[in-house]
Amino acid sequence: MKVTMVDLVVQYQQIKEEIDEAIHSVLDSGHFVFGKTNGEFEKRFAEYHGVKHALGCASGTDALQLSMMALGLEKGDEIISVPMTFVATVEVMVLLGLRPVFVDIDPKTYCIDPGQIESKITGKTKAIVPVHLYGQSADMDPIMDIAAKHGLFVIEDCAQAIGATYKGRKTCTMANAGCISFFPGKNLGAYGDAGAVLTDDDDLAERIIKVRNHGSENKYDHKYLGVNSRLDTIQAAVLGVKLKYIDTWNEMRRNNGARYTELLSGLENVVCPYTAPENTHTYHQYTIQVEDRDGLREFLSKKEIATGLHYPIPLHLQPAYKYLGYGEGDFPVSERASRSVLSLPMYPELPRGHQDYVVEQIQAYYRIHEQAMV
Ligand SMILES: Cc1ncc(COP(=O)(O)O)c(C=O)c1O
Repeated sequence: MKVTMVDLVVQYQQIKEEIDEAIHSVLDSGHFVFGKTNGEFEKRFAEYHGVKHALGCASGTDALQLSMMALGLEKGDEIISVPMTFVATVEVMVLLGLRPVFVDIDPKTYCIDPGQIESKITGKTKAIVPVHLYGQSADMDPIMDIAAKHGLFVIEDCAQAIGATYKGRKTCTMANAGCISFFPGKNLGAYGDAGAVLTDDDDLAERIIKVRNHGSENKYDHKYLGVNSRLDTIQAAVLGVKLKYIDTWNEMRRNNGARYTELLSGLENVVCPYTAPENTHTYHQYTIQVEDRDGLREFLSKKEIATGLHYPIPLHLQPAYKYLGYGEGDFPVSERASRSVLSLPMYPELPRGHQDYVVEQIQAYYRIHEQAMV
């Protein structure tokens, strides 16, 4: 049996009629950039989160960059974040001349450890970027308290956690700005690249609207330095259809996650994902920790089971970020996680038979392994 990490076609087939109609209505309108559909989607997306503004853009990476530009962060400013994340979180900082300053993650949630933030704050620190990794929120209250005490901005990287909650509040709504990715494999995925920034701050929203469109106040009137990062109207139409289903799909992911945890519970060698009591998890990834990760991964691959590594090398050890001056041993929790995490196939429609097969093969691996040790 071949088991893939995700299956985007099965979901499309279920909503094909609605999607095709929405795409064709954009084609018929002739408005492909900033069409009426964009405004409609942004309004509904803001309502879904209970925030004032949702601003579409070209990707989750751009959502982060637009937020940093619109908040007025400048060359040399320091931003505190984590090395255990997708590279985009930090890449945009460097492109803007900002300096990433890392702190380690919590060993259970894999999100930023708030207890380590304050000691990294200097006169140059301007912002904190917590990443809601794998689909659950970072511990936001202490982060927001530290930010308020030191006058820092907070930008939530919600690329993996749309619809997740923290103490009953949706992620992406708790800070100055929240950044979403609609990459196709994300919980709310477009059919191409797309992203959005959420904010309650009217002035920040105004600036983002300009910065995403070459900094234009009016056409050919460039008040700010900007970029071209608009949400493609066809993607806005796709997302408008899919938004209706996001809570159902997240619930299906949660059920799949709970089922994995139940089926894997007898295995001593496997650490299943932990959900903090104040959180609801959206299982963008169902990520286990195991000791012999690479051996298990190879075994599963031979059984035609796909798995993912999120992430195999923490950013402070990546060649592109060596110049920051960090080395092996500086962030032991991230380093340990990067050696032992393994993401299993996860998507709302994941067939039970596939899940059973994945778990059977993990069990088989440890049976063989243990027999060899005796
Ligand atoms: C944590 C995190 N931040 C940012 C991004 C960037 O989003 P995009 O791929 O839409 O640019 C991703 C996407 O994988 C991500 O996982």
